[in-house]
Amino acid sequence: MALKLDLGGCFPEAGPSREDFLAAMPRAKAARESHLSHPPDWRGLGGRTDLLEACRERAAVILEQEPETFVILGIGGSALGNSALLGALAPFSQEWAPADGRPRVVVLDTVDPDWLKGFLDSVEVDRCHFNVISKSGGTLETAAQFLLFHDAVEKALGSREEARSRFTMTTDPEGGHLRALAEEQGFATLPIPSEVGGRFSVLTPVGLLMAEVAGLDAGSLLEGAAKTADSLRECAPEEDAALAWALAHVLHLEAGRPLHVHFPYGHRLRLLADWFLQLWAESLGKKEDADGKVVHVGPTPVRAVGPTDQHSQFQLYMEGPDDKVFTFVRVEKPDWDGFLPSPFADIPAFEALRGQDLGDLMEAERRGTEAALREAGRPCAVLELCKLDAFHVGQYFMFFEIATAYAGGLMGVNPYDQPGVEAGKLAALALMGAKGHESRAEEISSLLGGEESLRFSC
Ligand code: PA5
Repeated sequence: MALKLDLGGCFPEAGPSREDFLAAMPRAKAARESHLSHPPDWRGLGGRTDLLEACRERAAVILEQEPETFVILGIGGSALGNSALLGALAPFSQEWAPADGRPRVVVLDTVDPDWLKGFLDSVEVDRCHFNVISKSGGTLETAAQFLLFHDAVEKALGSREEARSRFTMTTDPEGGHLRALAEEQGFATLPIPSEVGGRFSVLTPVGLLMAEVAGLDAGSLLEGAAKTADSLRECAPEEDAALAWALAHVLHLEAGRPLHVHFPYGHRLRLLADWFLQLWAESLGKKEDADGKVVHVGPTPVRAVGPTDQHSQFQLYMEGPDDKVFTFVRVEKPDWDGFLPSPFADIPAFEALRGQDLGDLMEAERRGTEAALREAGRPCAVLELCKLDAFHVGQYFMFFEIATAYAGGLMGVNPYDQPGVEAGKLAALALMGAKGHESRAEEISSLLGGEESLRFSC
């Protein structure tokens, strides 16, 4: 039931050594103490059975509507956790509904008109239920999606009253435009606790409602998260796996390895990796440190999926610049062994597969890749989940959230703000003609249309 971390391959000859790692432990302990002295609200989400209960009640209402498709409208931290959960626990549910009468689930984290039109053409919109997710309640992409789909549902059902029942608003309990709209118009709502920001919110109704609608065992998800939060709090700092992982990565970052490759072996882990990428990048990539000094720091997380990317990015990893740290993520026991039948006994090309399982092949590929990277002097960590179920996915979420908080402390940056993302949101508002943003719109237009552009066509 535990996550296992092996940092044995994380300190090759070049770069920080095992001794450097141990010598930096007091610094890591200070970051941990500071984090634990004011534990953030998201750390306790595993115990928020009240939120789970609220999601169960709402899911029951939604399932009574017998929707064919449950749709997530949201972006960034309001969408990636849902995709990660689905990818890990119900990987084909975006394509078709499960046989148990539950809806298929689709995450629409875009405003690409062609994509959304394609979606509209593929569903009966009056057989959909929409969860509109936005912590701030002011994100333009989510607002645009809502306007589009609300209009389509209203037209299909012939009344605003009816349309309202097909939407749930998941947002801040008090502030923001979405909350105000929901209260004014009478939409059903679910809260994202005030202190929990987008990329730390998967274990709130952001992810829990979808899990309940899709039948994904949200209770075990929270139990797994609680187990990891508790065991990392109760252990000695030297035993804290999230602290060790964060420290190793920060030391490599400082020593010139800014690329952090998340290398899951398993297709069902792919979207968990995308969730991690946002968490690591948005939390740690900062212009200023916590004291306001300009530092421009941050790791660049990269996703590689084994064994697929052994045949794509791996050449670069082996022989290109030594600027990366690798974390393999593996599942100890796949749900299905995948025994390989061997009817062609005399074909030499199949010899190595005779009597073997796909699970053995997967692990041989992973071990071979790890060994090759380590021989090439590249630092590698290995994180192991016993099983790929809701409990262990909850552990995975909490492990990396805690590691990210520790890394923020070690780097001296605030992992909970995202001024760069906010700047992008304001720029989009300005360019869409929002009142009060006129001068920003002019600045952007003159920057993008200025004489210094270099244009080509072919
Ligand atoms: O992690 C974050 O804070 C961001 O990625 C947000 O989740 C994203 O920008 C969407 O914001 P909101 O949930 O407020 O619509």
